[in-house]
Amino acid sequence: MTAVHRAVLESGGPILRFDNPVLDDGTRSKMPVVVNLFGSTERVAAGLGVAPEGLDDLGAFLAALRAPSPPEGMRDAMSRWPMLKAALATRPKLVKNALVQQNVIEDVDLARLPIQTHWPGDAGPLITWPVVLTRPHDSKPDEIGRYNAGVYRAQVIGRDRIILRWLAHRGGAAHHRSWQKAAAPMPVAIALGADPATVLSAALPLPETISELSFAGVFSGARPRLVPARTVPLMVPADAEMVIEGWVDPAETAPEGPFGDHTGYYNAPAAFPVMSVSALTTRDDPLYLSTYTGRPPDEPSIIGEVFNRLALPVIRGQIPEIRDLWLPPAACSYRMAVISIDKRYPGQARRVMMALWGMLPQFSYTKMIIVVDGDIDPRNWDDIAWALATRMDPERDVMIVEKTPMDYLDFASPVEGLAGKIGIDATNKLGAETTRDWGQVMQTAPEDAAFAADLLARLKGMT
Ligand SMILES: Cc1cc2nc3c(=O)[nH]c(=O)nc-3n(C[C@H](O)[C@H](O)[C@H](O)COP(=O)(O)O)c2cc1C
Repeated sequence: MTAVHRAVLESGGPILRFDNPVLDDGTRSKMPVVVNLFGSTERVAAGLGVAPEGLDDLGAFLAALRAPSPPEGMRDAMSRWPMLKAALATRPKLVKNALVQQNVIEDVDLARLPIQTHWPGDAGPLITWPVVLTRPHDSKPDEIGRYNAGVYRAQVIGRDRIILRWLAHRGGAAHHRSWQKAAAPMPVAIALGADPATVLSAALPLPETISELSFAGVFSGARPRLVPARTVPLMVPADAEMVIEGWVDPAETAPEGPFGDHTGYYNAPAAFPVMSVSALTTRDDPLYLSTYTGRPPDEPSIIGEVFNRLALPVIRGQIPEIRDLWLPPAACSYRMAVISIDKRYPGQARRVMMALWGMLPQFSYTKMIIVVDGDIDPRNWDDIAWALATRMDPERDVMIVEKTPMDYLDFASPVEGLAGKIGIDATNKLGAETTRDWGQVMQTAPEDAAFAADLLARLKGMT
């Protein structure tokens, strides 16, 4: 299934549904598996409630939400996007009868679900699209605004046991620490096959102050519908395909992995908390939503490109000279950045590199930055190669920074968690940056270009 999914995703193909998938014991499941839901930019945009052209507007709205002076920024944003205002103001709707609770199973055997084992070296079945819902210890079940929803991959290690891999800086991990402090088991609900707006909100790095559950309403344009879970004190999406309910012990952990990851390599096993499942609730005839993570392209890399486009206005708000920024999906979506700037003064490219590394936490794992001028398209490798070949000197224009924070997944770093970074200034040099006569870019005269275009059109008409 992973091989078929990958081939279809690479060719820009449709959403796939596998009927009668084979389970580990050789029997067939009646539950279809759906993959490639977010396999194209158009489908990710649709999940966010906009056409691809609307993504830049949505990014501007998100930037306004994060603005350092929220009242001003918000007021402006709200007047420009009244529909979004209405959506943010709506409270989730609590319902009594929910599709997701048409079936309630308390003697759960997760082996009956068609959970994929994706790669030959994977440790076992892995839930890849879990929307993990948690709340802090000092909250009440109806305080939806305090909930966190995150997508953290979940390894199945028994009939009713799952490992939750929330990395230490994630919302779910912060909530877990609050329950650990109180030495109390933590209620957790995992929504599987929630509506696309909820799934994408859970994957989106939203400001801490905004609940992903409420935010899903901004994208879908409808009040999120929630229902009390059956065996844990949490509210869950009423229209999801399935919900797994359970408890996470304050102390118990188990070794997670290895699993093939978005870098294209297997992760080393590491210890993460264990969830004991208390119930599985489902719709009648549910679908199981799945995906793989692997060397790009995969669905997360397509979603990442869209999210980076949404983030551009926020980045520009902090570093205004940035025209465009591209994180090539092929470089694992964040390890490399190409930035085009409107260059005005010597040293500006280095300032921009340091600003990106220093001011914005999401770029602390970006180990290569290439800066180009505004006439270079940072999304076009031919343009980048030309700028590097003609405007860059390795001795003068390369900056190496030592011993900076690094992703533990980056096994090329000399030690875990600490590594170098490289910045390459491929901009035109000006002022004190050079003593040489600098090259002048050649361009066809506009009238000659028009003549050529006209001539070619006429020749085409003759054939
Ligand atoms: C398919 C997929 C798998 C992911 N797996 C993990 C994971 O295993 N652990 C993790 O901490 N983040 C993972 N993420 C990233 C988080 O979902 C994402 O950063 C999200 O914004 C976290 O939400 P939070 O800030 O509320 O914790 C994954 C994202 C996707 C799209």
